[in-house]
Amino acid sequence: MSTQSENVFQAIISHAKEYGFVFPSSEIYDGLSAVYDYGPYGSELKKNIRDYWWKSMTQMHENIVGIDAAIFMHPTTWKASGHVDNFSDPMIDNKDSKKRYRVDHLIEAHAEKLAHEGKKEEEFALLKTMDELLAKEDFAGLKQLLDDNKIVCSVSGTSNWTEIRQFNLMFDTQLGSVAEDANTIYLRPETAQGIFVNFLNVQKTARMKIPFGIAQTGKAFRNEIVARQFIFRMREFEQMEMQFFVRPGTESFWYKYWKEARLQWHLSLGISLDKYRYHDHVKLAHYAKEACDIEFEFPFGFKEVEGIHSRSDFDLTQHQLYSKKKMQYFDNDIDEATGKAYGNYIPYVVETSVGLDRMFLLILSNSYEEETITKEDGSTDSRVVLHIPTKIAPNKLAILPLTKKDGLPELARELMDECKPYFKCFFEEKDAIGKRYRRQDAIGTPFCVTIDHQSLEDKTVTIRYRDSMLQERIAMDKVKDLVLSEIL
Ligand code: GAP
Repeated sequence: MSTQSENVFQAIISHAKEYGFVFPSSEIYDGLSAVYDYGPYGSELKKNIRDYWWKSMTQMHENIVGIDAAIFMHPTTWKASGHVDNFSDPMIDNKDSKKRYRVDHLIEAHAEKLAHEGKKEEEFALLKTMDELLAKEDFAGLKQLLDDNKIVCSVSGTSNWTEIRQFNLMFDTQLGSVAEDANTIYLRPETAQGIFVNFLNVQKTARMKIPFGIAQTGKAFRNEIVARQFIFRMREFEQMEMQFFVRPGTESFWYKYWKEARLQWHLSLGISLDKYRYHDHVKLAHYAKEACDIEFEFPFGFKEVEGIHSRSDFDLTQHQLYSKKKMQYFDNDIDEATGKAYGNYIPYVVETSVGLDRMFLLILSNSYEEETITKEDGSTDSRVVLHIPTKIAPNKLAILPLTKKDGLPELARELMDECKPYFKCFFEEKDAIGKRYRRQDAIGTPFCVTIDHQSLEDKTVTIRYRDSMLQERIAMDKVKDLVLSEIL
């Protein structure tokens, strides 16, 4: 990461803490590595992103329904899904510093360095070789790649590496009071399995016909060895996942459909296309047939924010095998080729999976601006503003009586009472108005309304727009509809 990008990223982290978006977990005890808490504005923003996703999936698609499955699941779930045997990352330790690294992260960091030095071809070649070696699980080859590129530990500065080993990322715990093996359960590392095991419950009770989807948001847990970059890689995080069940043979069509549809969802938040790119996987997860990431340009470079995976019939077949319960769907549509009903089959699945915390970081990174303002008299001022899309901003409207007297707060309260059933409003009567505007800019409130003495006379108010800072006088009874028109 360049020094400038590093500075911007650090400024975003400090801003997130100072303005009540994200705090280190249990900070009074010096925090817990890679675990974070969301503050008043953070929890509001996070909820709004989750709601925006949920609405786009379950309200805007008649053939997608939601569920809310438990975090704890029967332990055989994870045997069947392959996570017990395969959910691991290749790791390496530096013998001098005793630091442990994910091998792909070490190589990617070196590739980034090459890119900064303008050695683009070397960067691509290195990443291509890494992808191929990872796909073959060729650990000797990966170790050789570290040696050939003289990749060293950033702490000890040496290349005194151990062999590469696989580490499982699942957390386990005990169910009940007796610590026996039979009671070991896992904290789910993805929400998807709660959907698969409920596939027939949902299909039957919601009377769904293929193709249809099941959506879910919720916590997932991974014992990430290298957890860096703030909320980008956490040990406890939240996913927003949708499994789309399709007729075998149509999965490629639906994979392309969701790849495009999910990018459009990101763009619907007004984020520029140049900030996104697709990364098609060479190394596929143990369940995947085709897979890609939607990557976003964070301050530390392009990184995955969402995965689209064509998971074949792997999960349902595995659960059928391990549970000995049929996972088949009966399709009574007529196959034109044979003139007969498609009949019983295990559906194929296309999954969309986006990290809520990563989406949150994406919104913060994309919104944060340290702006220099040139005033009419030529002098300059500055502000920090979060250009959070209006639809998901924590507060939609700040209502600011100019003074605490003369009946202005009372009139402002009338507007507050009118608007607060519809969207989140904020009321503040302390401090100079400029200072109050700056505070709202810093938390990304798209509209501020000032109530002044003229408001008492003609029931008009000054509305100020966060991004342009333009102000205009409008009728107080138009404020609610103006804000509503921007958030629906
Ligand atoms: N069910 C498929 C699945 O879990 P994944 O690519 O491992 O696929 C999906 O994860 C998304 O979850 C990622 O694109 C990322 O946004 C988010 N995610 C994964 N690990 C994460 C972590 N340690 N911290 C924060 N978000 C994470």
